[in-house]
Amino acid sequence: MLDKPAILGGVPVREDLLAFGKPLISQDEIDEVVDTLRSGWLSTGPKVAIFEERFKEYIGVRHAIALNSCTAGLHLALEVCGIKPGDEVITTPFTFCATANVITHLGAKVVFSDIDKDTLCIDPNEIERNITSRTKAIIPVHFAGQVCRMDEIYDIAKRYNLRVIQDAAHAIEATYKGKKVGSFPDLTSYSFYATKNLTTGEGGAVVTDNDSFAEKIRVLRLHGLTQDAWRRYEEVRHYDVTIAGYKYNMMDIQAALGIRQLEKLERYLQIRERYFKMYDEAFSRIQGIILPKSIPGIRHARHLYVIMLDLEQITIGRDEFLEALKAENIGTGIHFIPLHLHSFYRKAGYKKGDFPQSEWAGERILSLPMSAGLTTKDIEDVISAVKKIISYYRK
Ligand SMILES: Cc1ncc(COP(=O)(O)O)c(C=O)c1O
Repeated sequence: MLDKPAILGGVPVREDLLAFGKPLISQDEIDEVVDTLRSGWLSTGPKVAIFEERFKEYIGVRHAIALNSCTAGLHLALEVCGIKPGDEVITTPFTFCATANVITHLGAKVVFSDIDKDTLCIDPNEIERNITSRTKAIIPVHFAGQVCRMDEIYDIAKRYNLRVIQDAAHAIEATYKGKKVGSFPDLTSYSFYATKNLTTGEGGAVVTDNDSFAEKIRVLRLHGLTQDAWRRYEEVRHYDVTIAGYKYNMMDIQAALGIRQLEKLERYLQIRERYFKMYDEAFSRIQGIILPKSIPGIRHARHLYVIMLDLEQITIGRDEFLEALKAENIGTGIHFIPLHLHSFYRKAGYKKGDFPQSEWAGERILSLPMSAGLTTKDIEDVISAVKKIISYYRK
């Protein structure tokens, strides 16, 4: 006799709702933030400087510039690479809209290239197929913490003289052949949004080994001023506005959180690795579930735990599956509905059928709860709920 799903009147797997990506904030983060609030210096100042120093050491790169988002980092990275109207930038449709929107902000054309269905990251063969004389840069996205096929991407970039700007919003701890992905050229942008592996509430950083890019980004992130407020406080000097920059700076309140979160990053990764293993062991041999694969030689950053439903094996669609999980009190997410199917990108000329691999994944994918803030019991509940629903609706 199969257990009745809660959506059909059965007993839910748990009584309270399990949030999909609850951040883990401890007393030392709270103390550090309070210390900042009491210090009298709230905006970009000494804590941002400390955070940048430690973050660049963690990644193994010459410069880290803290910002108010990963989106800001991607935007500034494209700008310092000289991307302008008429240029084309290649990226994946299987990402958050920020990755592509920033290309549009600079007046350049977003050229989507389909993913590799196994890893859900951009397929280097598709990149090469889409290169024209106007192509200037590639934005690979390390989806869910998975690492893209870096050797092939950098080989293409070298042969066609393209810049590489990595979107590592999901991939702070990720490595390729033993090196952090952000230590590869040209620039890499990270997100410290509330649900990310390291959080500052909202926030981001761009890293690079290129001194000239770093210098330009430091000026662009704060209105184009030659001196930020902290430096003006330290020494009396007039500032000059050298370019029409942006308001993209990180605050010390955010950096306070970041400093403490960074100390725990590797420990929290170990916890998520354990939860990934529990999920993998539970789902790898279940008919009706398809799991993504990794390429060799990487360390996955374990950001999102995604599964794909084998729609040929079950009688409900993905959205009904999510509803059924919600009734069991399990929170989920969808990462992602492919960007070319959203109205803005449809208006730009894209249509259903353009990227079959992304569409295949987009119809089947869902993200299960994943955070170092969860307990072993939480993960067990998710496993029970998924198994219960799959078994009930299996053909
Ligand atoms: C792949 C990807 N890129 C970029 C971003 C944007 O990050 P932020 O919110 O820090 O701007 C996100 C946000 O979730 C993302 O998932």
